[in-house]
Amino acid sequence: MKFFLDTANVEEIKRINELGLVDGVTTNPTIISKEGRDFKEVITEICGIVAGPVSAEVIALDTEGMVKEAREIAQWADNVVVKIPMTEAGLKAVHILSKEQIKTNVTLIFTVAQGLMAAKAGASFISPFVGRLDDIGTDSLALIRHLRQVLDQYGYSAEIIAASIRNLKHVEDVAELGADIATIPGSIFPKLWSHPLTDAGIEAFMQDWQSFKG
Ligand code: E4P
Repeated sequence: MKFFLDTANVEEIKRINELGLVDGVTTNPTIISKEGRDFKEVITEICGIVAGPVSAEVIALDTEGMVKEAREIAQWADNVVVKIPMTEAGLKAVHILSKEQIKTNVTLIFTVAQGLMAAKAGASFISPFVGRLDDIGTDSLALIRHLRQVLDQYGYSAEIIAASIRNLKHVEDVAELGADIATIPGSIFPKLWSHPLTDAGIEAFMQDWQSFKG
């Protein structure tokens, strides 16, 4: 399974990338705005740190505007992927861009139908939002399970990025259900390798060692 970092914070990316755990990065306008830095500058810097795909989202909502922005973003680095919102205009843009070999990640997917449409239009990645579905009391894990099933059934190559990950359980669940990728906020990522019993175990071992030595 691949892990992406859902952040534009360069320090977070560098720290976790040094563990060999970062296969890519996703951003959105909210994530970028938190850094207070120039969009192109921060995306270019991240693309230089991480070898895998780095998603940068368009702001335009019309096809022409999205395609124009996407062509520009695609010039920034070889590993940049253009994030496009799941709308009719977005699907049209994805279709145009796929013919130009520009990779896209269709975001804000909440149904199997939306995922299928994005895959069929030519998206390289589709991003179902797990946490936001949980927030409205909808079974987000069923969405991941069904998307996995239909993409495999019809042989679509789009990769499923489980997005809007809020906790460790989300990561474990989407891994079990066959999401290709989980994109994880920097605040959640360390929980993947931590456990209070690990910490308590280390402390007890150290105390016993000190008593033995003394
Ligand atoms: C990533 O591609 C998404 O934009 C992100 O995971 C959304 O997360 P949120 O629902 O916590 O804002």
